[in-house]
Amino acid sequence: MQARTCLSIILAAGEGTRMKSAKPKVLHRIAGRTLLGHVIDATAGAGASATAVVAGHGSQAVMEEAAAISRGASFHIQDKRLGTAHAVLSAREAIERGYDDILILFGDTPLVTGETLLAARQRLADGVSVVVMGFRTGEPDGYGRLIETKGRLTAVREDKDCNDEERKITFCNGGLMAVSGPAALDLLGAVGNDNAKGEYYLPDIVEIAARRGLRVEAIEVQFEELLGINNRAELAAAEAIWQDRQRRRFMLAGVSLQAPGTVHFSHDTKIGPDTEIEPNVWFGPGVTVAERVRIRGFSHIEGATIAAGAEVGPFARLRPGTEMAEGSKIGNFCETKKAHIGAGAKVNHLTYIGDATVGAKANVGAGTITCNYDGYNKYETHIGSDAFIGSNSALVAPVTIGDRALIAAGSVITRDVPADALAFGRSHEQTVREGKALEINKRNAARKSAK
Ligand code: UD1
Ligand code: CA
Repeated sequence: MQARTCLSIILAAGEGTRMKSAKPKVLHRIAGRTLLGHVIDATAGAGASATAVVAGHGSQAVMEEAAAISRGASFHIQDKRLGTAHAVLSAREAIERGYDDILILFGDTPLVTGETLLAARQRLADGVSVVVMGFRTGEPDGYGRLIETKGRLTAVREDKDCNDEERKITFCNGGLMAVSGPAALDLLGAVGNDNAKGEYYLPDIVEIAARRGLRVEAIEVQFEELLGINNRAELAAAEAIWQDRQRRRFMLAGVSLQAPGTVHFSHDTKIGPDTEIEPNVWFGPGVTVAERVRIRGFSHIEGATIAAGAEVGPFARLRPGTEMAEGSKIGNFCETKKAHIGAGAKVNHLTYIGDATVGAKANVGAGTITCNYDGYNKYETHIGSDAFIGSNSALVAPVTIGDRALIAAGSVITRDVPADALAFGRSHEQTVREGKALEINKRNAARKSAK
């Protein structure tokens, strides 16, 4: 199997008008990854060694995305949308390079798995020339039907071309196929367009191959893997399926999710075992969580690395560049960005830490703000290990607080504080006027009763 070469051809020349979008359909995203990206990932999972993307005119953005994901992907323009077989032939140059296996996929069908594609390739390795990915459904309207004669696949008939008897068939064509590389151009070249839509249908190669005595087969695939996306509702449905799969994968790998349906992952989220995730947590791109981490409810996390035994939230917002060392804590209503939180350090309440480092075991009090931006430039704050920052302090960057230093509550700190020092940064020492409160309260009460 490994010795066999494989080209994947991804059809993406559809206009996607039902998305009502300025953006090509295959660039819409599921779990933060484009539909095209998901399809390319699946082909990589099936061991495809080359990728050819077929797109319509003006698909510069599709080309860029394909090149970014799969270096060396070739790109082919289908001038006129004359059908799926015509679309595949737009990638003739790629096919002519010569591959053992060819996988044909749709850019708008992102949930197909590498395992399914690999199973199809295995049939090619066993000597089958055309493998159709089929599914069974109680509602076959609109799909091509798999026509079997004496239990063997002999043709695929598009819905519009079916007679009444054929229309009753519930075994349908999912659209995706695996085709023997050496046979592909011959078969595709024999496809005509004498049908209801006047299009060159890719599934016609099934009948052509069968007539030539080549082996053709359907493998049955779960319907959700073949779900094509045409509008935003289907996009959301595919997102839901993807998220469910991912939740299950994590749970089976040792991650606890109390309310799985409320936790949303990105395509690249990594989480270690014995990590517990409370309800309503959102993971954006670029998050890596180690083992034994506790992520409490309503936290929003992106571009962050969280080490073992750390605790996040509830209601924490971790923005890109956040790194939490072992056993550190970021608590409720805290926001961090480009921040390294040292081992065992605590940032527990109502705090903003940006462009900063917090030393091991430092304690950052409630309401502390690193003032990192002057409206033009960003500056850094460094807090030493075991330092204690009193509540409601403003640390005006650039500034460094030494190890074990104490910052009095309510301070505005504009200059560096050395190790082991105590710093007060309030405008005045506290003033106390004995009995003054009594006088003010009396006056206010009198005003109230005079009304
Ligand atoms: C196709 C199958 C049908 C199957 C169904 C499953 C054909 C002829 N029919 O129908 O048997 O049941 O999928 O969903 O293949 N595309 C191009 N250029 C073209 C035409 C299509 O790039 O000229 C692309 C589209 O962007 C799309 C894919 O090919 O990604 C499938 O085309 P679509 O028109 O959606 O085919 P269906 O009518 O759904
Ligand atoms: Ca379709």
